Amino acid sequence: MRSFTRLSHAARLGLNVERFFHSMRVRHGNTFSVLMPGLNDVVFTSDPILVSQLLQADSGTLSSSLPSPLEPLLGNGSLILLQGQAHAQERQQLKPLFQGTCLHRYSGFIRQAISDADQHLASPLDAQAFMKQVTLDVILRAIFGINTPDRRALFSAAIGRLLASFSSLLLLVPQSRFSLFGIGPWDRFLQARQALDDLIFAEIRQRAPDQNADDILSHLLRQRTDPLPMSEAELRHIRDQLTTLLLAGHETTANSLAWALYYLATHTAAQSAIRQEINTVPDIDNSAWISNAMKSDRLDAFCKEVLRLRPVVPLVIRSVLKPITLGQHLLLPGTYVGVATHNLHTDPQLYPQPHAFQPERFLQRKYKTHEYLPFGGSDKKCLGYGFALHEMKIILASLVARHAIRLHQPVEPVASIQGLVMGPKQKILLELSDLPAVTPALAELRKQKTPAPVPE
Ligand code: HEM
Repeated sequence: MRSFTRLSHAARLGLNVERFFHSMRVRHGNTFSVLMPGLNDVVFTSDPILVSQLLQADSGTLSSSLPSPLEPLLGNGSLILLQGQAHAQERQQLKPLFQGTCLHRYSGFIRQAISDADQHLASPLDAQAFMKQVTLDVILRAIFGINTPDRRALFSAAIGRLLASFSSLLLLVPQSRFSLFGIGPWDRFLQARQALDDLIFAEIRQRAPDQNADDILSHLLRQRTDPLPMSEAELRHIRDQLTTLLLAGHETTANSLAWALYYLATHTAAQSAIRQEINTVPDIDNSAWISNAMKSDRLDAFCKEVLRLRPVVPLVIRSVLKPITLGQHLLLPGTYVGVATHNLHTDPQLYPQPHAFQPERFLQRKYKTHEYLPFGGSDKKCLGYGFALHEMKIILASLVARHAIRLHQPVEPVASIQGLVMGPKQKILLELSDLPAVTPALAELRKQKTPAPVPE
């Protein structure tokens, strides 16, 4: 019976995570148990009180869920997989790279990437492919300082091959990870991983600790105190963190932005309202324009609503290290517990008309951490959430200010597993038409700024 349930849960998860979790809520209420492939029983909840309790548990009671299906991809030194003191120490080292002045410096990379991409817009524009290209450009600049198209293309191809080789079967069924005369799916995955590793190791080895460079790798190298050359273990450790940032920071943001473009195209009133709010300062290439756009409440509410309705990481899972009671469930060490984020985000008590896209709800109410968690929570909350929001806002503001965005053909995409995260299953094709003058007020301001023609 358990084998049948396991198979049925795995199949329904693979087919449509959101629909499966929704049907479990209809049948069992806010808290239920799922037989997850590779983990056995996981008690999931979307009851806000229990979610709050879960997020407040200390790291000695609940920690990173292990074994992780991502381990072959990220390496066992990845921040996502570390527990306890090792996790706290590593996080402490990486945290400054995603705050304050560092975050501010990445704005330059983001603006450059979207500005470059804007000059070669295809028509119709494939939202997912476009956002993958732009976010990869951003993350490669931020992590490695790579800004040459050739090097970027090498990384892009290696990451694409790696993600394509890590099939849902390899992700969800650890027993499928075996060599088959060097030509099986696992062998192809290992070859693809080695190819990306070679590129990353080359970046690390070539790099002298440059005092001025702003990229993450240069920061990490400046932090270290051990003599050169690096030991093999240290090299692997840095590789695990860089791969984690590269993969955690790329697909998540790309898919969230693809959803954002879809909702801009289908909610033209929201699109115009954002445009109006961000265009109160002239000169889109000016840093004052960007700071003004970053303060836009409408853009902020729009991004929050996209992340509510379409959380690209729909589940947050923890290993139970010490006994803990969650509602009526006594959870014992060795078991797992999690938040069903999509269920929480569509709870009608918290979000009236939960399946409607209504950014205004975030202008009317401030949600608490345990009511809204697209970036997870507790000491494991997404390390790059500030970076991701900043990136989403700069990219969307730049596009909305320059173009009217609409669908090329009607589509109602559903969410499905795309690589490691959830994203739109169907292709979203867009038409982006240039806006002549952004607003009458702005046109007037620009006219005033234009120098008078010199008489012949
Ligand atoms: C819209 C974009 C993003 C979304 C929705 C997202 C979501 C998440 C979620 C749900 C988690 C798990 C949190 C938990 O277990 O409680 C996570 C972890 C993480 N994310 Fe993100 N993420 C995004 C972008 C980024 C970016 C841009 C980076 C870095 C460049 C990043 C780096 C990480 C890291 C390192 C972790 C592991 C944190 C830890 O275990 O301590 N993410 N992210």
